Amino acid sequence: MNFVKTKGAAIPALGFGTFRMPGADTQRMVSHVLKNGYRHIDTAQIYGNEADVGEGIRQSGIARSEIFLTTKVWVENYRHDAFLASVDESLKKLKTDYVDLLLLHWPNDAVPLAEQIGALNEVAKSGRVRDIGVSNFTTALMDEAVKLSTLPVVNNQIEYHPYLDQRPVIAKAGELGMSLTAYFAMADGKVLDEPVLKEIAAARGRSIAQVVLRWIVQQGFVTLSKTVSEARAAENAAIFDFELSSEEMAMISALAKADGRIVSPEGLAPDWDKAV
Ligand SMILES: NC(=O)c1ccc[n+]([C@@H]2O[C@H](COP(=O)([O-])OP(=O)(O)OC[C@H]3O[C@@H](n4cnc5c(N)ncnc54)[C@H](OP(=O)(O)O)[C@@H]3O)[C@@H](O)[C@H]2O)c1
Repeated sequence: MNFVKTKGAAIPALGFGTFRMPGADTQRMVSHVLKNGYRHIDTAQIYGNEADVGEGIRQSGIARSEIFLTTKVWVENYRHDAFLASVDESLKKLKTDYVDLLLLHWPNDAVPLAEQIGALNEVAKSGRVRDIGVSNFTTALMDEAVKLSTLPVVNNQIEYHPYLDQRPVIAKAGELGMSLTAYFAMADGKVLDEPVLKEIAAARGRSIAQVVLRWIVQQGFVTLSKTVSEARAAENAAIFDFELSSEEMAMISALAKADGRIVSPEGLAPDWDKAV
């Protein structure tokens, strides 16, 4: 297992995502991927499947201590008391007494960031959470979060795929010693039709999914990948036995487009950093 290490945290470089996954699929796939080598599971309060993730972990028979488990607090739970209660509820559903990483799912200024970060620190200091982080945070918000936190903010989980230039956030993460986790690596399926990726994949005897996931982990980031297929889960995990050349890495990065961002929900999306 490859890890991304920062500020005391060690995050398995490949995580299994569970967004938009119905309960029965979640239980089946979480159990399956854990039995087959995955050690990192990503869920969120808003996905509505934390209890299924917990059940999948139980069914896998893999020791909890072997698994890196992430969940995310939903924005409606950002007030201090609701925050703490929601984390207890998540732990109950996940059938565990701690999560490895707890993230603020989206920035939200209805509650002061200081209160959100204070609650994150509190649950971590109480032992319910090993490490804390954020998601969908811009460079300005990353700076703010780090300034407000007593504990290290170890991770920002962001949309990242070949069509989205994330260089500002990548540079800021480097400056702050924060790791990055990529979600939507497949650009919601769009990368699968990309001629440049087809060419690289064919030359390497790999699939496009493998090339894209490799492009992310080779940059030193964590990547998530979700699938309801056992065969695809195996395919997506086979990314640590080959290396892309610097030319191939550059060709993939050059696919970024000005309108490449896919996830930008109204009412949640911050004032995104402009691409370089
Ligand atoms: N923090 C956030 O705001 C946020 C937002 C979005 C997602 N996330 C996290 O990131 C995870 C990953 O994002 P995602 O769910 O959009 O999935 P993804 O990994 O980008 O995959 C998108 C789709 O690609 C298909 N796929 C997967 N492997 C494939 C392969 N080898 N070949 C062809 N198609 C393949 C899957 O369909 P099938 O299932 O049919 O195979 C999946 O629905 C989520 O599950 C969630 O945990 C976080």
